[in-house]
Amino acid sequence: MKKILVTGSNGLLGQKIIYALRDRKAEGIFCISTSRGNNRMKVKDGYVYEPLDLTDNNELIRIIQKHKPDTIINTAALTNVDACESKREEAWKMNVETTENLINICKDENLHLIHLSTDFVFDGLNGPYTEEDAPNPLSYYALTKHEAEKKIIDSKIKWTIIRTIIIYGVVDDNSRSNVVLWAINALKNKQTITVINDQFRSPTLAEDLASACISAALKNATGIYHVSGREVMNILDLVKIVADFFNLDSSYIKPVSSLELKQPAKRPLVTGFIINKAMKDLDFHPHSFLEGLSYIKNQLKLVATDTKD
Ligand SMILES: NC(=O)c1ccc[n+]([C@@H]2O[C@H](COP(=O)([O-])OP(=O)(O)OC[C@H]3O[C@@H](n4cnc5c(N)ncnc54)[C@H](OP(=O)(O)O)[C@@H]3O)[C@@H](O)[C@H]2O)c1
Repeated sequence: MKKILVTGSNGLLGQKIIYALRDRKAEGIFCISTSRGNNRMKVKDGYVYEPLDLTDNNELIRIIQKHKPDTIINTAALTNVDACESKREEAWKMNVETTENLINICKDENLHLIHLSTDFVFDGLNGPYTEEDAPNPLSYYALTKHEAEKKIIDSKIKWTIIRTIIIYGVVDDNSRSNVVLWAINALKNKQTITVINDQFRSPTLAEDLASACISAALKNATGIYHVSGREVMNILDLVKIVADFFNLDSSYIKPVSSLELKQPAKRPLVTGFIINKAMKDLDFHPHSFLEGLSYIKNQLKLVATDTKD
């Protein structure tokens, strides 16, 4: 039996990993879902849930010793890039210190740590990036994620770092938005949105990323992996594709440059990943962005039907 403990299971990626693991229970995969506070997923059977604030190291140790997983997938983080710029202490505590705690328990209990990181570790001058390229974080969020990576790489534990880019998908409780849902909601409500026109990214369907994380666990793949969609696109074009796909009025989209927008945290201009290593080792075959949007369309229909009931 494989026992996988997931942190941040109320989040976008966390929810998708729990659903995917739940579907594979018959293969002998047992899943321990943990997040801060109550379980916000709609389906509550087929896995065990433990409330776990990762900043409480004693609680982390207690839960690991209670369930004895062999793998931890760490999706939990302070992910609001601009908030990390102003809440530096909180960002360091959550993104760096909790990773140190996870490394320690993995060392003590001989566990495999699969940790999520970001394209923002790069400066965006030479994207798309391979796993061998040198990080150069531009914001405090990026710095904390890079520090956590360095601590993992320098540890003697069995580790995997999965870096990803703009995750999109639908979560159960609508507690998490992302660029695709944001654009759909704003344009449906005929709100003008300013969209950055000089930053390039590879949008990643949350379900695709979840399958790569699980694959790393089951295949015991170690090292750094770049896991994202294949297409590198301007965020402005990304939002225009969303508008076209959902038949929404794109005249509400107002292009703006990074210089004009003045976001609190500096972002890399061009990222995107070369994903050959993940394709080969993790059997990772991401959907195209248009396929991903069809996925979202069906999920939004299901949410609408559920709400009517
Ligand atoms: N989203 C992206 O576009 C993106 C891009 C690149 C990399 N990443 C990385 O991918 C990973 C997953 O991202 P995501 O979009 O799924 O993030 P998310 O939706 O923000 O989920 C993060 C989860 O972590 C939980 N969390 C925060 N502080 C915690 C604490 N002290 N103890 C326990 N749980 C805590 C949050 O809990 P609450 O729900 O209670 O707030 C949330 O459920 C993160 O490591 C992120 O840095 C994300």
